[in-house]
Amino acid sequence: MNVTMVGAGRVGLVAAACLADFGIKVHCVDNDVRRIDALREGRVPFEEPGLSELVNKNAVAGRLCFSTNLPDAIRQSLVIFIAVGTEDETPGSPNLKPLFEVGKQIARAMEEYKVLVVKSTVPVGTSRRLAREIMKETSISFDIVSNPEFLREGSAIENFMRPDRVVLGASSHQSLAIVRDIYRPLYLIEAPIIATDNETAELAKYASNAFLSVKISFINEIANLCDNAGVNVHDVAKVLGLDRRIGPKFLHPGIGFGGSCLPKDTRALIASAHQLGCELPVIEGAYKTNVTLCSYLLERLKNAVGTIEHKTIGVLGLAYKPLTDDVRESRAMDFVRLLLKEGAVVQAFDPAANAAAAALVQHENLLLMPDAYEAASNADALAVLTEWNEFRNLDMQRLKKAMNGHVLIDARNCIEPNEAVMEGFDYFGRGRGTMATKEQPAVVAV
Ligand code: UDX
Repeated sequence: MNVTMVGAGRVGLVAAACLADFGIKVHCVDNDVRRIDALREGRVPFEEPGLSELVNKNAVAGRLCFSTNLPDAIRQSLVIFIAVGTEDETPGSPNLKPLFEVGKQIARAMEEYKVLVVKSTVPVGTSRRLAREIMKETSISFDIVSNPEFLREGSAIENFMRPDRVVLGASSHQSLAIVRDIYRPLYLIEAPIIATDNETAELAKYASNAFLSVKISFINEIANLCDNAGVNVHDVAKVLGLDRRIGPKFLHPGIGFGGSCLPKDTRALIASAHQLGCELPVIEGAYKTNVTLCSYLLERLKNAVGTIEHKTIGVLGLAYKPLTDDVRESRAMDFVRLLLKEGAVVQAFDPAANAAAAALVQHENLLLMPDAYEAASNADALAVLTEWNEFRNLDMQRLKKAMNGHVLIDARNCIEPNEAVMEGFDYFGRGRGTMATKEQPAVVAV
């Protein structure tokens, strides 16, 4: 079977490479000429573990090709996946223009029945709207299947190949059977395939992400309480997580959820609920809590070092999470912006995202450093903002020697508090009691 994947971004390219690995011939189309040229030369334009290898393996095998010619790809394919971005146009309002534009182009190019599969995250009712738009352009029959993607950056291939579930929202048996057949290799690992209608599939994607947002904000609120109560949040999270109704995942406190999906999708769900005359106070609360976490951390830093103005603050981690160079809606970048606004000099290092951070924030007081120890050099305080594994094994003595000051803010609980304290740091983590010092060690996990 031939399929087309429209969009060679983080969702589209992963899905295209994985479908090609299922043995399907995939035409991956994007209107970004430079991106397509790079992919044709075997260069993947962003960090995703294993993706380069998978793309190149399938390209060499002739199952994955790249093009900017959408009409040509459409004519050769029965199924057209759409994985274009839906970044906010205004807060809470995803930009659906690229999706509708692709729909129009498909309508104009198709000469026989097609199945359009929407992978992009879209508000409830969008597939129906898309169908109406396409019908204005063509009388040829088609179906739309809503197949939301649940990939996480950093483990996207594993998530695609071993999904918790595949959701297929369809309005006809024919289109459902065709798309179900594409996912046949997943039957072997007994991945649940949920067949439902388009609207349920669309809403379920938003509800999943909003639930994760709530879970993260919940543990962040408990972490704030643990700070005041002198209790270790990880012990509390362990007790919670062993209840199978709750589960242990997404109970790690930090400076809040970021990235291109959770914040945007949570906003969009709230906005579409409002449009439908409905309030979502729990979800709105989770979003508000998320926004407050950077200021909470800044207050802790100010308590420890006094005024921030003219201070040098070392920052470790800029990406919104480890194993990616993505800084979109990164809370670490928000924290850096707050520091710069307060007049600090920021010396930052991220193992993958230095370049992306420099492109996002240009400020004379933001210095991007080649490693963690350089970021700490002569700093008055150090803040760990992304939990890269390499930050878990830092040489505390070397760090301390490199610095001017002795304040360590560990926003992701990467560092063993008492190890830091032994080297003379005043340590402040997330939900590990108040500031730990030599005289008053940290509350460690049991
Ligand atoms: C998320 C969803 O997990 C995925 O299903 C959806 O398809 C896209 O959005 P992703 O953005 O790749 O995936 O990252 P994820 O690993 O979910 O983390 C999102 C944010 O939450 C990160 O900023 C991360 O640091 C934060 N997070 C996650 C926490 O602060 N604590 C946790 O316990 C888990």
